[in-house]
Amino acid sequence: MINNHIYDYGMASPFIISYQDSDPPQVERTVTEIFPVKIGSYNFPCKHKTRLKHLCFDIIDKYKNNRDYSCQNDDNGYLTHYFDQKDLVQSLLDYPGFETFNSWIKRCSIDYINNTFGCDCDNVVIVQCWINDCSKGGSQPLHNHMNSLISGTYFVNYTPEMHAPLTFGESTIMGTPYLSLGHTRDRFANIEPYEGTLLLWESHIKHGYQSNNTDKRISISFNVMPETLPGIYGFKLIKK
Ligand SMILES: [Fe+2]
Repeated sequence: MINNHIYDYGMASPFIISYQDSDPPQVERTVTEIFPVKIGSYNFPCKHKTRLKHLCFDIIDKYKNNRDYSCQNDDNGYLTHYFDQKDLVQSLLDYPGFETFNSWIKRCSIDYINNTFGCDCDNVVIVQCWINDCSKGGSQPLHNHMNSLISGTYFVNYTPEMHAPLTFGESTIMGTPYLSLGHTRDRFANIEPYEGTLLLWESHIKHGYQSNNTDKRISISFNVMPETLPGIYGFKLIKK
């Protein structure tokens, strides 16, 4: 069960606008939120998740000092990525032992695209996939993933209330030019996963985490594109 902690969704008290003596002093407000953001959640079967966890620990141990396969993602050295190098030919998903996980995250992605958004997607391409290893004190500022439709994070080694939950920020799309009301309240929602949980979301949605309280917050992140984009200007993706 995912625990959703919704932060700062409060509304301001009814406020006073200039009014005539005969007017009621307050405006009555009803706000209905529609079209909520849809975060998918899937659970990797227990018999597979333990094996995958051992494999990820082995990879981290093997490549932690090899800069061809690992890189620091922050200035403080709290967060290390594995298999995230642009010029790396070998994909993490091609690593021996990832076959079941590769197939499962594809099936989850197709299910999420079709049953959440009502699409008719036959197949997907996992365009990037990498391991994150965050130590105590680490964090990742809110960000989103470009050139991708769906993004996901699978939690390999995760202890609730010790490792940082994933925080999602309310999406704002800024065109050029765009209008602004000035500073508006930022709204965030935390999702506390379990070990073996996969979360999926639309790639433009901002996400990150704060104040990780213990070492070895290990996860696998990836980006997904439908293999075929439909329509008269559609196209088919073929991964090299
Ligand atoms: Fe991310």
